[in-house]
Formats: sequence, structure tokens, C-alpha cells
Amino acid sequence: MNLGTTIIKGRRSVRSFRETEIPEDAIRDALECARQAPTAANGQPWIIGVVKEKETLAKIADLTDHGRFIAQARACFAVFGEKKAKYYLEDCSCATMNLILGLWAYGIGTCWVAGDKKHYAVAVRDLLQVPDTYTLVSLVPAGYPADIAIVPKKDLTAISFSERFVPR
Ligand SMILES: Cc1cc2nc3c(=O)[nH]c(=O)nc-3n(C[C@H](O)[C@H](O)[C@H](O)COP(=O)(O)O)c2cc1C
Repeated sequence: MNLGTTIIKGRRSVRSFRETEIPEDAIRDALECARQAPTAANGQPWIIGVVKEKETLAKIADLTDHGRFIAQARACFAVFGEKKAKYYLEDCSCATMNLILGLWAYGIGTCWVAGDKKHYAVAVRDLLQVPDTYTLVSLVPAGYPADIAIVPKKDLTAISFSERFVPR
């Protein structure tokens, strides 16, 4: 156990945010974390939008099915992948997780809101005027937590094995 793993293990999805603004430094540092994520053949096939305007946050929230709380976030990151990149989904998922953990390290809560495979992916892309060579992978609303729901996690023994799988 160390500071890094404590931060990673302490992360929880946050869907209720305080009014306090997120410092620009934290946003920039979290984007730097995303930038450093691993990618297939170092392709870095992504573009990440940062939305802070309340009106746009509300529009994105309305487009989603399970992301209505985006309207109450202080900011929402939108991670888009280059469609032509074979592993854009994995690459952009790595970037999304780095972004989430980077923000959490500042005490800023987020919740991954699905983008890929969602009916609203094109509408969100159009709203943010992103070219159609990209596709939405994730939305990451962010803000200081007002409330954090703790959900149960599977036991380590149930999700891992040593050397060979043992039927349970
Ligand atoms: C690919 C993906 C899509 C998700 N989509 C949504 C979503 O649309 N709305 C939402 O409220 N949470 C969404 N979540 C968050 C999960 O519900 C959450 O991670 C899960 O319940 C475990 O809780 P925890 O993040 O606190 O560990 C998504 C998470 C992932 C990884």
C-alpha cells in the first residue's frame, strides 16, 4: 500500500457535485494524465473536449439516458476516439481512466458516463462540433463530491487466480 494505490483504491463514482469550481491547474494536470495513457502502437488516437458552460452541460445531460447529473457537474470531459484507429476503444478507455484517477488525486469526483455504443454518441459529437472521423467513447462529468455512493466490489479471490484457473 502506498499513496498511489490508496488513491486508486479509494476512487468511487460521484454523481452529486458541490458548487465549488474546479481549478484550471487540476483540469490541465488531469488532461496531462490522460495524455500519458498507453495506446496501441503509441497511436494516441483521441481528442478530449472540456465543457464548462452550464448551457452545454445541460444539453449533454439531456441527450444521455443515464447521465442526467452531468447538468450539475462543474465540468464534463468528452473523450473521442479516431474511428480509423483499430484499438481506439481500448486507447480511449485508458485515457478516460487516467483522467478519472488524475482528477480523483485532487479530490475531484467523476463518473464515467457511457459514450461508445450509445444512441446519443453522434448528437454529442455534433453538439461539440467534433469532426465525424471521431466517435464518442466516454463522458466524464467532474466536480467536488457532494455525496459518494459506495458500491460493493467482488472479493479478490473471486476475481483472480494464481497460475491456473480453479473452478469454484
Ligand atoms: C464503460 C462504463 C460506462 C458507464 N456508464 C455509466 C452511465 O452511463 N451512467 C452512470 O451513472 N454510471 C456509469 N458508469 C459507472 C458505473 O455505474 C460504476 O463505475 C459502477 O457502478 C461501479 O461503481 P464505482 O465506479 O463507484 O466503483 C459507467 C462505467 C463504465 C466503466
